[in-house]
Amino acid sequence: MYLGLDLGTSGLRALLVDEGGVTVAEAEAHYEVRHPHPGWSEQDPSDWILACGSVMTALRDKAPEAMAALKGIGLSGHMHGAVALDGQGDVIRPCILWNDTRSAEQAVRLDALPGVREVSGNIVFPGFTAPKLAWMAEHEPDLFARIDKVLLPKDYLVMWMTGEVVSDMSDASGSSWLDTGARVWSDDLLAASGMRADQMPRVVEGCARVGELRAPLVADWGISGPVTVAAGGADNAVAACGVGCFAEGQGFVSLGTSGVLLAAKDSFAPDPATAVHTFCHAVPDRWYQMGVILAATDCLNWLSKRLKKTPAELAGLLGDVSGPSDVLFLPYLSGERTPHNDSDIRGAFVGLGVDTDDATLVQAVMEGVCFALRDCHEALKATGTDLKSVLAIGGGTKSAFWVETLATVLDLPLDLPDAGEFGAALGAAHLARVAVTGEMPETVMTRPKIAGTIHPRDDLREAYDAAYHRFTRLYPVMKDVV
Ligand code: XUL
Repeated sequence: MYLGLDLGTSGLRALLVDEGGVTVAEAEAHYEVRHPHPGWSEQDPSDWILACGSVMTALRDKAPEAMAALKGIGLSGHMHGAVALDGQGDVIRPCILWNDTRSAEQAVRLDALPGVREVSGNIVFPGFTAPKLAWMAEHEPDLFARIDKVLLPKDYLVMWMTGEVVSDMSDASGSSWLDTGARVWSDDLLAASGMRADQMPRVVEGCARVGELRAPLVADWGISGPVTVAAGGADNAVAACGVGCFAEGQGFVSLGTSGVLLAAKDSFAPDPATAVHTFCHAVPDRWYQMGVILAATDCLNWLSKRLKKTPAELAGLLGDVSGPSDVLFLPYLSGERTPHNDSDIRGAFVGLGVDTDDATLVQAVMEGVCFALRDCHEALKATGTDLKSVLAIGGGTKSAFWVETLATVLDLPLDLPDAGEFGAALGAAHLARVAVTGEMPETVMTRPKIAGTIHPRDDLREAYDAAYHRFTRLYPVMKDVV
């Protein structure tokens, strides 16, 4: 038995699978994101530990025999968060999360330093870890002076489970401190934000064994033998492990809270100027590139609150795809990463009329998200990336309209996985298995069964292309007025 723990922004999901990767039991626990000031986004790492205890005891009670036979645990985590620890290993302040924008100024300053983009492979986005520490140095110098170690969120759970202070390459590459091509911490990048190598965890591959689960936890959780804990990885890298996405040309598009278009890479080929992210994969000698939009299903969730209808009810207002709406929507509710790197920009509806009804707003929102993902696709193509096979995953894929529009707007056939598990929790369980057995990642992390392929609509390609080009003209205008 192997267990994947997916430390998400709103909750922790645990998935117990057998040797064949088939789900045996699952459990979930939720926690808060706190916003003590506008643009701030924080979590208390002790909430993750409480959540972990609760999912593990739930699994023990649900599937005692399977839990007794557990051999390995792997993790996936939301990226970029800064967990600052003192010399006793105690948390100094709440974790500053990936979607916190307080350090925009520090990010701009770090990003302008020579060599930073080349070595880290990325723009220093405000959400990344380094600017958060530079912000602490300026605004909380007493707390900053007490820092002994900085961990990424899932690494804090690994430390709690094993006592080991370790990170993995995929998560570390979102810090702006890693030499992403060489897969080692960079002293120069660390020094740029006032940090030192001795404050960093040891960094290993995601499928590497970190250590053993502490004996009291083994006993509490009803496990009979020793349990290996794998380093795990960053959420998107581990999701890629969940769908067997490693080779050049393979990718996925995710309509989740945020939206992602990810392409696996055989080599380190960054092009930071395009706002494409280039990170290490969670397995050795592989990288991936991705465009990230900060709000995808989040836009529909927002509309659902305003119109007081569930997202499913909203999606139900739409019939077949028959061409783009006259109303355009800019999905920048939380600012944007790719391609604009603009944490201040905000969303908009453009072209509203007295006849604009709820269905039109829903269509415009879904199309706006598709257009923003097309921006990501254009940015990936500009780096030379050629996506050949793309899976569509995430909650938004439940809407047939959304997936078909996305296929047409991206001009890519999209494979829809069969119902079942294929996300980050499964990827994390796969990493655990590789850490225990030493098998080749590619043999364990296979592609899911495909339920069907959604093809671009030839009859609508041109109309959507024209609508996309109208969409791209709006960002500079909004930038000017917001
Ligand atoms: C990636 C990113 C998100 C977060 C939250 O750069 O910020 O994927 O990890 O999901």
